[in-house]
Amino acid sequence: PETITNTGQLTAKSVIDAILPGKNARVLGYRGGMLGPTIRVQNGSDVSLRFTNNLDEESNIHWHGLLVPAEMDGHPTQLVQAGGSFTYAFRLNQAANMAWYHPHPHEKTGKQANLGLAGMIIVETPAERALNLPSGAYELPLVIQDKRLDGNGAPTYSPSMDDVMMGYMGETIIVNGVAGAVQTVSTRVYRLRIVNGSNGRIYNLALSNNAPFWLIGSDGGLLPTAEQVTAVLLSPGERADLLVDFSKVPVGTDVFLKSNTFAGASSQGGQAFNILKFTVNKAETDPFQLPAALGMVSPLSTASATKTRLFDIGIAMEGMNGMPMRGMHTIGGKTYLGSRIDESVKLGDTEIWEFDNSKGDEPHPMHLHSTFFQVLNRVGGRNTLYATEKGWKDTVLVMPGERVRIIAQFTKPGLFVFHCHNLEHEDDGMMLNFRVN
Ligand code: C2O
Ligand code: CU
Ligand code: CU
Repeated sequence: PETITNTGQLTAKSVIDAILPGKNARVLGYRGGMLGPTIRVQNGSDVSLRFTNNLDEESNIHWHGLLVPAEMDGHPTQLVQAGGSFTYAFRLNQAANMAWYHPHPHEKTGKQANLGLAGMIIVETPAERALNLPSGAYELPLVIQDKRLDGNGAPTYSPSMDDVMMGYMGETIIVNGVAGAVQTVSTRVYRLRIVNGSNGRIYNLALSNNAPFWLIGSDGGLLPTAEQVTAVLLSPGERADLLVDFSKVPVGTDVFLKSNTFAGASSQGGQAFNILKFTVNKAETDPFQLPAALGMVSPLSTASATKTRLFDIGIAMEGMNGMPMRGMHTIGGKTYLGSRIDESVKLGDTEIWEFDNSKGDEPHPMHLHSTFFQVLNRVGGRNTLYATEKGWKDTVLVMPGERVRIIAQFTKPGLFVFHCHNLEHEDDGMMLNFRVN
């Protein structure tokens, strides 16, 4: 994908692009084609992104994984009407990480993102540059999505009630907007920076040769040290920063990034499938050395938490206080309502939030705006923490039967949302406001 640095124009519009090779079709995008450019920003420098909405309905942009002021966060009430513009301007003060951007208008996020509005945004710092991780041609930003395509290869979006419940799955897996994606590589270590940009699909990322690989980062940046893994479960909204070593793969051989089955996968088809084909086409010597230490993740102490909030998540069986109708996706028995303040947090406080899906039967990737958190524990279901959860997170998967506790410090004042990142659940109302002041 095209790369821009610090400043630029993003225009949400209908464009012609080919998801299936050779089949031009109508999709949405922020520049010439589907999706948007990969944006590289330097921590501490001025970022200015001019957004123009050329759709025929309201939209906006949320910077998922950037700690920006509330008025720049793309809250669902901060809309840009059809034909309007808004300049998102901010200066970041955070660790190097990989974030992504997408629309956030309530009840329209799922559609706009699915039809093509999303992109990758990468935060760079001197500290990360000093690690000499693979860069340039050896660093691959990958947006993984699934689409339902019509006969002309155009994405279609009309979820049924079942889709809203089980998750809206497409049968065509695309990477950076292309189905059947192929990437040629040399016999070197590559950095794969992956966002699950799907509406509802969870991937269990692995390599077709079953080789182990390194997980070096997740949502909020680098892990303290590299974790050797053979699979990484990635739910919608989550990111994985991987190092894959192709140096032992014979030239002329293909290796696939694939999704393995996993416990609970039955709801989304339960099959393993390929995502991206790597063709090793060139022998090269590799100077890369894995650094012994990567990011800074000092544990937030539970003793410093001033409050614990408990949220039942899932389908509301009864309307509570007349708010949700029976059968809607809720948090704490409530569905999203405009700027109603659901939770008030004191600026600077550290809190423990618990998401309780012990009675539910759907997976819920829970996402908080404005902060990164650490995952304290997971009780029930998988009963364990994962390698991705050794770093800073902004989205955590809560599978059926599970209760997951997270800890976060709230340092940005203003009104923000937290929600399920299954976009059909979010659009169904599984999103609440919290106000920090
Ligand atoms: Cu990526 Cu509020 O979302
Ligand atoms: Cu977000
Ligand atoms: Cu959900």
